[in-house]
Amino acid sequence: MRIGIIGAMDEEIHYMKQALDIYGESNYAKTTFYEGTYANKEVVLCKSGVGKVNAAVVTQLLVDRFNVTHIMFTGVAGALHPELEIGDIVISTSAMQHDIDASALSPHFPQGTIPMFGYESDFAADPSLVNLAEKAASKVSGVSVRMGRVLSGDQFIASRTLVEKYYQLFDGACIEMEGSAVAQTAFLNDVPFVVIRSISDKANGEAAVNFTEFTKLAAKRSSDMIEEMLKAI
Ligand code: ADE
Repeated sequence: MRIGIIGAMDEEIHYMKQALDIYGESNYAKTTFYEGTYANKEVVLCKSGVGKVNAAVVTQLLVDRFNVTHIMFTGVAGALHPELEIGDIVISTSAMQHDIDASALSPHFPQGTIPMFGYESDFAADPSLVNLAEKAASKVSGVSVRMGRVLSGDQFIASRTLVEKYYQLFDGACIEMEGSAVAQTAFLNDVPFVVIRSISDKANGEAAVNFTEFTKLAAKRSSDMIEEMLKAI
């Protein structure tokens, strides 16, 4: 077993990097990969950078260069579900892109659909990892958890109108910029994945201010979840 852990920003990998007993460091595609152990588990940690392209590249590298058997994403997200509060945890049941849109081409391809017949658009997280995350949540004190669909796109969302639209259209629990790319790449490689996100903002008019203020707290919560998962896996 070898677990690939991805965060998009420094804050999102900071706590895991501190907790990891690092024995190796290597670079591919302008990305540093930290090999180490945590709770006697082999871990490869990296910072993908922001956005779907970066997330897909590092996921493929974790598979090709490090032979990871499982992938966990840790980080922060904007809330879509009205009951989610800042600091709450979302465990992905699946992940999809909200910003892929070939609807002008055909009614068969509504927004959010990858325009290839018979191709998946909403990528299911691994049920065992989801279960592991649910159990881990009970060990992280004061954390409120919701399972649900993670929506990803190459935009920082700061609009109540868009929050309502994406919540209605896609039934997303939270919105971020990498999860679906990790999910799709993991799916293409038959590697189990789960995305863990903690809410830094509500993707509304105050999102930029809240994101700045709460990213550290939310990143820590998500990292605590990953640590508990690593202990139990
Ligand atoms: N990550 C954290 N908050 C976000 C938001 N509002 N939009 C996109 N990604 C995010």
